Amino acid sequence: MLDKSKSGWWKSAVFYQIYPKSFQDSNGDGIGDLPGILSRLDYLVKLGIDGIWLSPVCQSPQADNGYDISDYRGISPMFGTMEDMEILIREAKKRGISIILDLVLNHTSEEHFWFQEAKKSRDNPYHDYYVWVDGDGVTPPNDMRACFGGSAWTYVPELGQYYFHQFAVQQPDLNWENPVLRRELYSMIRFWVEKGIEGFRLDVIDQIAKVPMDKITANGPRLHDFLQELSREAFCEEGLVTVGEAWGADVERATLYSAPDGSELSMVFQFQHIGLDQQTGGEKWDLKPLYLPDLKHCMEGWQQGLNGTGWNSLFMNNHDLPRIVSRWGNDGVYRVESAKMLGTFLHGMQGTPYIYQGEEIGMTNIRLPMEEYEDIETRNLYAERKAAGFPEEEIRNSIYARSRDNARTPMQWNDKENAGFTTGSPWFRVNPNYKEINAEKALNDQNSIFYYYQKLISLRKNHRVFRDGSFTLVDAENEKVFAYLRETDEEALLVVCNFTGEEVPFAIPDGFADCILQNYPDLTETLRPYEARMYLR
Ligand code: GLC
Ligand code: CA
Repeated sequence: MLDKSKSGWWKSAVFYQIYPKSFQDSNGDGIGDLPGILSRLDYLVKLGIDGIWLSPVCQSPQADNGYDISDYRGISPMFGTMEDMEILIREAKKRGISIILDLVLNHTSEEHFWFQEAKKSRDNPYHDYYVWVDGDGVTPPNDMRACFGGSAWTYVPELGQYYFHQFAVQQPDLNWENPVLRRELYSMIRFWVEKGIEGFRLDVIDQIAKVPMDKITANGPRLHDFLQELSREAFCEEGLVTVGEAWGADVERATLYSAPDGSELSMVFQFQHIGLDQQTGGEKWDLKPLYLPDLKHCMEGWQQGLNGTGWNSLFMNNHDLPRIVSRWGNDGVYRVESAKMLGTFLHGMQGTPYIYQGEEIGMTNIRLPMEEYEDIETRNLYAERKAAGFPEEEIRNSIYARSRDNARTPMQWNDKENAGFTTGSPWFRVNPNYKEINAEKALNDQNSIFYYYQKLISLRKNHRVFRDGSFTLVDAENEKVFAYLRETDEEALLVVCNFTGEEVPFAIPDGFADCILQNYPDLTETLRPYEARMYLR
């Protein structure tokens, strides 16, 4: 177990993200819940993780699956009670697992008491908690678009004003310029720290300092002032781990966010690598194949750029992203090999790895009839692109490849009905491949992806080079093999990953004889489809 009183403990940690709605149902209502998570803690202990990033479980009308919070201090009855939460925190801690709460500080639900008050009149004390601009209900203040489609401005006729929302209409943006609001948020965070929460994931944190009239959303001028105040006022304990979601982060900004003096956050989720298979200037729906050297140079920039001056988070999956094995791997014949290869590629790097539920068993994307998609973003995209005249097939292909619902199908526990996720009727379709892909099967197979991830985690704990080593690309322009070297004074780690379904010749550099991890039973001269190896010297 890691000693979590030591500052920076999270540099040696591995986290696991739980999307509660889809993890484990305990009472047969078809929706995952807190007691369900409790019942699976020992599975996570076996995997070897140190913390759980829990997607939102607070009170919410669920317009955006909990990212629209109506009460930050209450647990949604759908997930259980405050007592269930306290038990989960306590039981997890006993097993060396910290619970990291998802903090949605950029916006609330329209049903939050603050917004209900704010809408009543311009001189209501909560009015200024949100972002308002006078208007006539005909022409919005400007042409800004909301992330989930439509205008970013919604009119409230009683006030003669528009409110600003970067996401859905049901998610009004909070006004961080207001110091009273900021203090309310800090006190809410302290409430959770007192409950035993050991860290936070900060939803779209780079968008809090927006200046909508200047069309600024990410990286607003006061962003780092706000973050420093937040850190001082709310994250004062040494041991808390904080990770900000920052779609707009580049290396330079990330050195501010994750400055070693702890003045802002521990680390951020940046998304540059995630956007490499999208058309330049397009949206995530505009697909393009991944060109491996792009990925290499992107990762090199982050690995070298933050070494000693900041800290990386390492991830390829979360509840907003399609399954990586279906994206950069092969979810057909080479599913197992490619899932292990992708894990190797990522876990050899410097930073804190985040595993998303089901990644450790190689869960895949799903294709659904249009009416079964649940995600607000997917549904809005479909309607928008239909209206704009995109061909049906093209829209569907974008959705199959990129919909957030790919990651939100229920966790596949076993080959029984509903994959063991629920005894009732699941809130969302279980991927029909659950008889083949499930946790029970993985646990009974020593060669499974699960045990491979277990090894990746334990290697990281046993060799300092994973945490501290420098990073150098090997054969940088090779379009098929991603290889790199990590070095400290004592150790060198070589990671070799074939990103293709072909056999590829590759010369292992001299001095590397000790293969500590491999995804094929033996070693040959060439690399087989999606072959991955780690060597230590
Ligand atoms: C973040 C969340 C996503 C949510 C959005 C709005 O990107 O990860 O799920 O829809 O913020 O809160
Ligand atoms: Ca339930």
